[in-house]
Amino acid sequence: MRVSIEPEGAPQPPLAPLPANLTAERVLEVHHYTDKLFRFRVTRPEAFRFRAGEFVMIGLRTDDRPLLRAYSIASPPWDDTLEFYSIIAPNGPLTSRLRNIKAGDEILLARKPTGTLVLDALTPAKRLFLFSTGTGFAPFASLLREPETYTKFDKVIVTHTCREASELRYSEDIVNALSDDPLVGESAALHVMRYATCTRDACRRPGRITDLVATGKMFTDLSIAPLDRSSDRAMICGSLPFIRDMQNILTAAGFAEGSNANPADFVVEKAFAG
Ligand code: A2P
Repeated sequence: MRVSIEPEGAPQPPLAPLPANLTAERVLEVHHYTDKLFRFRVTRPEAFRFRAGEFVMIGLRTDDRPLLRAYSIASPPWDDTLEFYSIIAPNGPLTSRLRNIKAGDEILLARKPTGTLVLDALTPAKRLFLFSTGTGFAPFASLLREPETYTKFDKVIVTHTCREASELRYSEDIVNALSDDPLVGESAALHVMRYATCTRDACRRPGRITDLVATGKMFTDLSIAPLDRSSDRAMICGSLPFIRDMQNILTAAGFAEGSNANPADFVVEKAFAG
């Protein structure tokens, strides 16, 4: 009997041990929306706990040390796997590599998530406004699938503004799928409104959300009452200039910024990229 021996590839150098604050996870699924935006799912360690809206450092091994960036977790805390939504930043050291990941690849995950876009940082009220631009929608994808969002608020109004209409697809998919969600489907179908706008492309609702709030057009379009501190709370996530302008609008309307330690009327986090 002839035994054939498969030639082996060149021997691989042993992998450097990971720092104790990181675990090695596996990519389960990748979906590209545009040439700059994609989402991916990874395995979740059993001991990994987080609150909806938090972020965590994730990344890849490189020859010398792990390359890590902060990413909002887009999946809800009850999900067995973790979802992330990423932009491919021009010359971004991590995202220029992450763009090529595929199922089975390794992703590094920090053990400890954190963040301010959490329900605990807001005092009780009736309506929750979630204002986002670009990948700033990611933490809201988690909060929209978290049952506690609907026990704390009667109405959730989520806004998403991007340059081009094609960049709104992720938030559209998430919100459309809510009604079939086993945990929040019933509440979400009744209580969520999505308001999507774009600024550099033909779309149904053109314009920056800051202008649409300031002029009141958003409230007219949705047939809802204008912002009111006595009934409303808000979260803001997106680019720094957007955050600053949205913060100014809320502050002028009498809203106070909150935190984990001092819950109040609104909270803020910048969308991460790089
Ligand atoms: P615009 O096209 O008018 O700049 P970016 O990709 O630069 O982060 O922008 C994402 C979205 O956020 C774009 O639609 C952009 O509108 C909008 N945006 C940028 N800066 C602000 C701001 N200061 N206030 C409101 N929206 C903003």
